[in-house]
Amino acid sequence: TDMKSRIIEEIQEWKQKRNAILLAHNYQIPEIQDIADVLGDSLALARAAADTTADVIVFCGVHFMAETAAILSPEKTILLPDLDAGCSLADSITADQLRDWKAQHPGAVVVSYVNTSAEVKAESDYCCTSSNAVEIVNSIPDDQEILFLPDMFLGSFVKNETGRENMHIWMGECHVHAGIAPDHVEGVLEKHPEAELLIHPECGCSTSSMYLKSEGILPAEKTHILSTGNMLKRSKESEAEEFIVATEVGIIHQMEKQNPDKRFLAANPNAVCPFMKMITLEKVLAALKENKHVISVPEEIANQAKLSIDRMVAIG
Ligand code: 13P
Ligand code: SF4
Repeated sequence: TDMKSRIIEEIQEWKQKRNAILLAHNYQIPEIQDIADVLGDSLALARAAADTTADVIVFCGVHFMAETAAILSPEKTILLPDLDAGCSLADSITADQLRDWKAQHPGAVVVSYVNTSAEVKAESDYCCTSSNAVEIVNSIPDDQEILFLPDMFLGSFVKNETGRENMHIWMGECHVHAGIAPDHVEGVLEKHPEAELLIHPECGCSTSSMYLKSEGILPAEKTHILSTGNMLKRSKESEAEEFIVATEVGIIHQMEKQNPDKRFLAANPNAVCPFMKMITLEKVLAALKENKHVISVPEEIANQAKLSIDRMVAIG
């Protein structure tokens, strides 16, 4: 509509005025995906935030992502268009809970998923995302006990892939991905037996799919457990015509855009992250105009969290 194109024009003008870029996660609404300078998964966006020469980063994603950008680039202004864009998974562990857990396992190495607060990262040795979690754990000596947090499904996936026995897993979950159950995937697969499965490791169905794959019940060559960035890569490279997508449904916009001749079916069409959907064109414009909401991390916490985030950016 006219209104929409006017807002987009204004966003472009303000971006120039501020020397700003827009980073957007794959779960953002289509309008935001379409105007992003960089669209990607958590790891790609953290790397883009570290590398950009822009003065201002408008983070179209959720709070922990903007915090990570602020820690990587303290000299830049990081804006989150809606302060309520949080994450249920990041909320599943506090720094106090982590300190207690560490006290129960003295000497253990702490590996935290990037979906955590800056305070939790400051208590961690390594950060990881879904695209490099296996490599990060494999980079830690075999005899070293590991505390992995906060996602239990990603934790089980990593434990299974690495064969690591000395890894304790926090029992947190993302309410959106936990709600994608084995029944959802099986239901769609029954109607589309030829489809390839793209499953995010945060999903409730990821654990059972690993089992079904190992038992030969799900075809191994057609079952892929991947980060959102790697799902996009796989859907481009694969020769399959149909895909069952087990993650937040926002990514399907990008899959369809990049592969107009292929079909993408949501495992659970209700897998919608309310936090990711809080970012709108209007709020992005207001963020640029009014320089809000600035996300910064206290220097002491940022310094303590930086090593674990640098390791995440460097590996995988
Ligand atoms: P990735 O895009 O890194 O796979 O992460 C998924 C997610 O839930 C981010 O909030
Ligand atoms: Fe957090 Fe889940 Fe939303 Fe990702 S999809 S931002 S993990 S609540």
